[in-house]
This record gives sequence, C-alpha cells and structure tokens, in this order.
Amino acid sequence: MVVDIISAVPDLLNSPFSHSIMARAGDRNLLKVNVINLRTYGLGKHRQIDDYQYGGGAGMVMMAEPLDNCINDLKSQHDYDEVIFMTPDGELHNQKLANKLSLKDRIMVICGHYKGIDERIREHHVTMEISIGDYVLSGGELAAAVLVDSIGRLIPGVLNDESSALSDSFQDDLLAPPVYTRPADYKGWKVPEILLSGNDKLIEEWRMNESVKRTKERRPDLSEE
Ligand code: ADE
Repeated sequence: MVVDIISAVPDLLNSPFSHSIMARAGDRNLLKVNVINLRTYGLGKHRQIDDYQYGGGAGMVMMAEPLDNCINDLKSQHDYDEVIFMTPDGELHNQKLANKLSLKDRIMVICGHYKGIDERIREHHVTMEISIGDYVLSGGELAAAVLVDSIGRLIPGVLNDESSALSDSFQDDLLAPPVYTRPADYKGWKVPEILLSGNDKLIEEWRMNESVKRTKERRPDLSEE
C-alpha cells in the first residue's frame, strides 16, 4: 500500500513512520509513505500557500491553487482509491474504517492547517473526510500519522504475529483482555493462576470473559450498536 501525504509542515511526519512496526512495514515494502511538501507548489517568490478568508474573521485559509496543483500532479502520476482530508468535522475514525482502508492500494491524505482549506478543494477533490476525535489539533499531520499507523499495522505481513491484530481492542466491538508477562509474582502482585495453567481452552474462555467484562464496564456503548 502507498500513502501520499500532502503537508505544509512535512518535518512533523519524519518520525512517526521511522520506528518500530511502521519502519518494519516500510522495510518489507508493505507500506510506503511519501510526504509531499505543499510549499513546493506555493505561489510566487514566497511560495505562498495561505491567505485571508473571504468575509473576514481570524485565521488564514489554505489556498485552492497550490493544493489543486499538488493534487493534480499526484493524480497525473497515480490512481487513488481515496483522497482523504483530515479535519475535525469529518467522519469519526474507528477500527472498522481502519480495516476498510487497509485494503486499499493507494490513498492520498491532505493535512489542513490554520483555519482549514478552501472549501472548493473539498468539493472537487476530496472523497473522504476523517476526524480522529472530537478535539482540534493545530494541523492534520498528527491526525494523518494516527490514521496511517492504524491502517498500516493491519496490512498482512506487517505484524509478526498475524493473529495479534485480530485480538486487538475493537476488532469484535470488544476491548482487549488484560495481559501479563514474567515474573508470575512481582512484589506479591500475582498473575491470574489460569494463565499459568497451560490449558488453552480455559485460557481462551477466561480472556473472552475478561474482554466482555471490561467492555461492559468501560465502553457499554460498543455492544449497544
Ligand atoms: N485536524 C485538526 N484537528 C483534527 C482532528 N481532530 N482530526 C483530524 N484532523 C484534524
């Protein structure tokens, strides 16, 4: 899968894909993330990408022309399954959406800044608008990193243990059960006996019960759908 991210602050995206699971996805050629500097498409000597908003009001707006030129340039080179705009007024991101997007071949992700982007780009280019939560970030970059991380780890071969993505929280509308590692007794804090029993069936049942209990306690909304 290839993700092309358009950003006015590309340096913000240097680190998230260079470590751990995302770095491995890149090394294995399963996920390629390209960050395109919008400034390259900026207008005039100062490479302008933002301007005052019509009608007045505080805050700058990202101009249509640099974005349009950048998007058209990318579209002339590749086909895109989706052109996604990261925005707090978009569809709320969740595991189902991550699953769906992990099946795509190539997506474009646009990061907004300042007051937002000229609405005409949303009307004419954007196919999906995604929010990562009901709060406002200073730009779309961190949201894009969250989106791509949640998608990337679902691509087959990215995680070493294939089943570990399937047992993640939210995959069955259930939160994940508690996990423990050695030692079995740390300062008198004990690992539940059953996990030491070696009985796979009982362990599986225990985990399912814990998942259901935790989901009821913490996220009753998940089972109400
Ligand atoms: N840009 C600013 N805030 C955002 C959010 N909550 N989700 C996605 N993009 C954003």
